[in-house]
Amino acid sequence: GSRDPYRIWLSEVMLQQTQVATVLPYFRRFCARFPDVTALALAPLADVLSLWSGLGYYARARNLHACARQVVERFSGRFPQDARALAQLPGIGRSTAAAIAAFCFDERAPILDGNVKRVLTRYFGIEGNPGSSSVERELWSLAESLLPRADVMPAYTQGLMDLGATLCRRRAPACAVCPLQRGCKARRDGRIDELPASRSRKVLPQRATWMLLSMHAGQVLLQRRAPAGIWGGLLAPPQFDSFDSLRQAARALAAAADPLPLAPRRHAFTHFTLMLHPYLLDLSRLPTLARDDDQEWLSLAGIDSAALPAPIRALLREVCDGASSTAASNARLNRMQ
Ligand code: ADE
Repeated sequence: GSRDPYRIWLSEVMLQQTQVATVLPYFRRFCARFPDVTALALAPLADVLSLWSGLGYYARARNLHACARQVVERFSGRFPQDARALAQLPGIGRSTAAAIAAFCFDERAPILDGNVKRVLTRYFGIEGNPGSSSVERELWSLAESLLPRADVMPAYTQGLMDLGATLCRRRAPACAVCPLQRGCKARRDGRIDELPASRSRKVLPQRATWMLLSMHAGQVLLQRRAPAGIWGGLLAPPQFDSFDSLRQAARALAAAADPLPLAPRRHAFTHFTLMLHPYLLDLSRLPTLARDDDQEWLSLAGIDSAALPAPIRALLREVCDGASSTAASNARLNRMQ
């Protein structure tokens, strides 16, 4: 419902790897807080990350911010008006650039996201792994050859995306109501379940981390993570490569520290799975609080709005609930005694 390049760019970046229903509340909050590209460029990265928190793939948020700054600094706050120039900006790949150019400027540029690859692979019966460079080249040139007139580019582009997202689903596609069912090669050959050919799924490597949740007077000790890598730029409790180094750090905070293990949990990233071993350290008896320069004490009341990775927010909420139920049961016990 908009041809504003800022809103279209923002929605397209959010919609990379994330479904529309999930994106909608984030999109609304971003538009309310950052009504234009200048507002976004002027905001501290921490504010952007905190509003992004829960959408995942945080490189998108960092690129979003970097892109806003470039648009302001290099283009006086106006997005470039063609796909080629858009694709030079951080976080805008060829397909996203084409989508923005088609929606905003009627440019005849082809999109090729995961959903569109699936539609084309089935309709034309393309064999081979759609992630391989030869199949990818073939799909790009098909996508290019199918482009309609410039004036219908927005409707065509959105229609193709929606077809992939809603009818031509990976599992149980709705072929019976698909407007392309007659010409679809995979359907004609009874090969809908075989196309696109599935990627050979590698077993993801496992990593492990030990996380120290130091608690004091309703606050938890957090550390700003390095800008690159997982959860880059976000806040999280300090992490260690082994239980021994976690215990050492705990003892540096309190000599007789005895960190309490919480249930370990697994978190899946794109390229590895992370086994997280959280330990709770109750520092409530300490009169003063220590912290390093890159650390801060966050009140548990602030965990909903801080720039935390979603699984860490969930973990802290759990600790919070546990703490309140422990407090409640202690109070009950005291009354009974
Ligand atoms: N995914 C990426 N862009 C999209 C769009 N414009 N509509 C629906 N899903 C999308």
